[in-house]
Amino acid sequence: MTARSLSSQLTPLQAATDQTLYEQVAERIQALIREGTLKPGERLPSVRKLKQQLSVSTSTVLEAYRLLEDRGFIVARPQSGYYVKTTALALPEEPSQSTPPSQIRPVDISLMLRLLRIDLSPETIHLGAAVPGVQHFPLNTLNRLMGQVMRNNPMVVHSYNTVPGCEPLRREVAKRMLNAGCSITPDQIIATAGTTEACYLALRTVTQPGDTVVIESPAYYAVLEAMNSLGLNALELPTHPQDGISLSALESALKKQSVSACMLVSNFSNPIGSCMSDRKKKALVDLLNQYDIPLIEDDVYGDLNFEGNRPKAIKAFDTEGRVIYCSSVSKTLSPGLRVGWCIPGRYQQQVEHLKVVVSHMTATAPQLAVAAFFANGGYDRHLRNLRRAYQQQMNRMLQAILDYFPAETRVTCPSGGHVLWVEIPGGFDALELFEEAIQHHISIAPGPMFSASNQYQNCFRLNTGLPWSDEIDQAMKTLGNLTKKQLARQILAI
Ligand SMILES: Cc1ncc(COP(=O)(O)O)c(C=O)c1O
Repeated sequence: MTARSLSSQLTPLQAATDQTLYEQVAERIQALIREGTLKPGERLPSVRKLKQQLSVSTSTVLEAYRLLEDRGFIVARPQSGYYVKTTALALPEEPSQSTPPSQIRPVDISLMLRLLRIDLSPETIHLGAAVPGVQHFPLNTLNRLMGQVMRNNPMVVHSYNTVPGCEPLRREVAKRMLNAGCSITPDQIIATAGTTEACYLALRTVTQPGDTVVIESPAYYAVLEAMNSLGLNALELPTHPQDGISLSALESALKKQSVSACMLVSNFSNPIGSCMSDRKKKALVDLLNQYDIPLIEDDVYGDLNFEGNRPKAIKAFDTEGRVIYCSSVSKTLSPGLRVGWCIPGRYQQQVEHLKVVVSHMTATAPQLAVAAFFANGGYDRHLRNLRRAYQQQMNRMLQAILDYFPAETRVTCPSGGHVLWVEIPGGFDALELFEEAIQHHISIAPGPMFSASNQYQNCFRLNTGLPWSDEIDQAMKTLGNLTKKQLARQILAI
């Protein structure tokens, strides 16, 4: 495609939108890459040409190109210009940055509770819950290690332990945090019953009932549940499927209102799959430093990058101890063992105290078994296989969406983790699809579950953590057909 024909594909930029000019430029180019108009390996227009074509400044184009580099769509070649990455696939369009309502509001979870209480038949294909396939986990090794731990330490595993948790686990976690760019000592880590408990302790530590917490939108529904139970209000911020929460929206919110904390999933978030660039992570921490706001970072998917190095944690840029880091082995080794951890920074004492109040300590045997697996169970080799498996499963699901869903379907394309966020434009009702899918023994997670204000009626989340099978393929076909039928019914009703 020539630079001249590219300009004909670029619609005029809008003055009144939540996005900055450079974000708008980046979106246009990104859309052209995703739909295959700009092909992998193709050279992008020079900064000078694009600047003329769009009537924007040089720095706007440079910022847009840098953003696209961060998002993994393009590469800069010295002396030569910018090129579409050869690995960039032609995929369905992805959802745009979300536009949640800008008011602070209590978290409404009534719909979520209703949906979570629905009995699913045993033969249900679980595409709703973000559960990994247990088949992917090294169950034999973990079982052997659990046995060893129980036999070798009978007194220890059956006694009360110290609050921060077992030293061997904390040592291994401290070593692994180096991969996330964090230099942490074992005594800065508290073992918890999964990420869920770590996040709950963190939220309780930095908030009082009635406070406001800034969250991504859409947000992981268990965060909404925790906030509801603590009587917190939510301020949902625009979030992009590639690089997460909008910092410009965050900055203007912090200028206007009192906020007690910010809470987000930093890498391969659930449900939208976003992963902030290092530059953005650092800018986020700088902003929070400026306004003196604590950040609760949920990094449960951080080890699940499909390519390159594990992304850094936001904690890696924390200079003032304001990031409370939360993670676990639930997505990589076993959700059932309930082994997680919290690195509370300056809030260490308060989180330790709350941990005593809430559950006294974390079970010892699973901690020791996970520590032993980290130390010599081949965790890195296991991660390599797991990442490949999750990536293949996600690609199969993306292909199924291309094959079976209406052409106008939009879907995220995360570079790690195991969830996809699907958006069907128009008046599509994901709750109706949910009800119909249940009749076919298929579960999905409808969009409104991921919003404090029941947004995302036309969206749903799919789990890609299960090994691909004919049954899942058939379930995707059924979901695609139900979606098409619903859209057809709507057209007939007009
Ligand atoms: C973003 C996120 N955080 C936390 C959890 C739960 O983690 P854990 O099992 O470690 O409590 C999940 C599980 O789906 C999740 O998606």
